[in-house]
Amino acid sequence: MDNRRQEWLDAIAAAGDEAELRRIDHGLLGKQGVVQELVRGVSSLPAAERPAAGKAANQLKLELQAALDARRAHLQAESLTRELAAPDFDPTEPGPALTQGTLHPITAVQNELVELFTSLGFTWQDGPEIESEHYNFEALNIPADHPARDVQDTFWLQDGTLLRTHTSPVQVRTMRRFRPPLRVIVPGRCFRQETVDASHEHTFFQMEGLVVDRAVSTANLIHTMKTCLRVILRREDLEVRLRPGFFPFVEPGFELDVRCLLCGGAGCKVCKQSGWIEILPCGMVHPNVLRAGGIDPEEYTGFAFGMGLQRVTMLRYGIPDIRYFMGGDLRFLRQFVEV
Ligand code: DAH
Repeated sequence: MDNRRQEWLDAIAAAGDEAELRRIDHGLLGKQGVVQELVRGVSSLPAAERPAAGKAANQLKLELQAALDARRAHLQAESLTRELAAPDFDPTEPGPALTQGTLHPITAVQNELVELFTSLGFTWQDGPEIESEHYNFEALNIPADHPARDVQDTFWLQDGTLLRTHTSPVQVRTMRRFRPPLRVIVPGRCFRQETVDASHEHTFFQMEGLVVDRAVSTANLIHTMKTCLRVILRREDLEVRLRPGFFPFVEPGFELDVRCLLCGGAGCKVCKQSGWIEILPCGMVHPNVLRAGGIDPEEYTGFAFGMGLQRVTMLRYGIPDIRYFMGGDLRFLRQFVEV
């Protein structure tokens, strides 16, 4: 075995490239290799010889393995040096490009809205996604037996809390934390137990807005909403209209519509032939909500709005189905690299 050991070590040291080295490795240490056979042979020796023979065989294995590793490292270093010295090697050529992610279209639209509203003096408020019944409903003038609760199918948790069904609970949370004048926006995730289809998701994003000050009027509301929609939909010629809308936490409440961006009002599939697209529920903050926030409605008034971020994003980019947003298809998401 001893002279073969030297023979094997010499063969490893003489291997000219990695392919040859792999062949030698296989012949020695592979499953059917000579050294493996030696190891297997140990068990058929007389019991007294087995420990010493086993130890020697293992040592040989380790030694050969180390020699193979050393030779491989040497050959690799050599081939790298050769490549670096080759006349066609260009060290200034850029390496492989890193793949970079892009912002999700909802994030991009949200960022733009946040930037716009902060430039108008609003601040960003956050609230919990797991909310109490009080802030999600009661403080917003929606008592337990109110039918308005039925349109917001709620995920209840076992301890009586819930996944917030809108960003509106942050209105009263904000009033309780700060004194007027208030100008806040609340972008955030909301949840409803919806049957998912092209325009409904169980998880969706809203951006709440709240202004409370002395002598705030509907005119302030309309102006702010028009400014916001003009920027986010990138249209100077935007036409809006207000219809009465019912939300228990505003009085009066409105549905704000924009003249259909696709057909200009003539009627099409997107506006369901009406010429108008319902886009923004809003209104003047209900006195009961101000009271729940510890604010005197005789002294202060306010307006609020709740924008569906998916809806705005869909309108802006002409996205036909809300399910794309959470579908995780990179081909969809990569189309929005502009922002
Ligand atoms: N929270 C309402 C919803 O999710 C939307 C809403 C309507 C918010 C009117 C408001 C508002 O602030 O004034 O259906």
